[in-house]
Amino acid sequence: MLDKKMTLNDLKAKKSKEKIVAITAYDALMAKIFDGEVDVILVGDSLKMSFGGEDSTLGASMEEMIYHSKAVSRGVNKSFLLADMPFGSYATKDMALQNALRFYKECNIDALKLEVGLEKEEIVRSLCDEGIAIMAHIGLKPQFMRFDGGFKIKGKEEHEANELIETAIAMQDAGAFGILCEGISSSVAQKITQALRIPTIGIGAGVECDGQILVWSDVFGFFDEFQPKFVRHYCNGKILLKEAIAKYAQDVKTKNFPSEQESYK
Ligand code: KIV
Repeated sequence: MLDKKMTLNDLKAKKSKEKIVAITAYDALMAKIFDGEVDVILVGDSLKMSFGGEDSTLGASMEEMIYHSKAVSRGVNKSFLLADMPFGSYATKDMALQNALRFYKECNIDALKLEVGLEKEEIVRSLCDEGIAIMAHIGLKPQFMRFDGGFKIKGKEEHEANELIETAIAMQDAGAFGILCEGISSSVAQKITQALRIPTIGIGAGVECDGQILVWSDVFGFFDEFQPKFVRHYCNGKILLKEAIAKYAQDVKTKNFPSEQESYK
């Protein structure tokens, strides 16, 4: 449990010393529960899938991300608050700056995350030069799922592994404070982690990253249509809620709810 607000410098100081724990949240209710229990809370554009029921993150808009970031920020006092810039919102330097400034001014967030390759080096540099803290997301980039022809694990081929390492170093040099490694073979994620002075947070990237992140609905077993290899359920939320809703329905139908104590005189 955190006893004070997690800062960017606290996160950097954890590199190679103490694992960073991160989870997503999309609303104030969950954010309040997670706040202080984890180092980082991410308002991920995965909300389009796990919250909105879509099959990709591509439809996330600035308005939606800002709405959810504001909601989450109302529940967060201690954890470091990170938000995803949605697909298309950082296509050019100008757009990236305008949209990043909106997040910074309108939502009480600590940093932004962008899905990047080497081609985004200058955009990341220009945001960092403006004083916006950036985490670079590399490897499997869900915003590239149509371009890549699906969600593909990266780093298996030597040229891909070398490009990932080069990208991570370029992002560090451009000013990124951390790298999110998604869907990368563990040995490559380990090499990236060792090559950098900034922390890496992994999802489907093995145990050697400086930290781990999972999507909240995966952690609590609310999403069970398929379970990717890297997901671990820490409770069976879907069954717990199914049992509770069935009990509520039964109590209403049998007039067991509300009781006299639950009614006004
Ligand atoms: O959008 C998201 O939730 C993410 C995680 C998968 C890291 O980017």
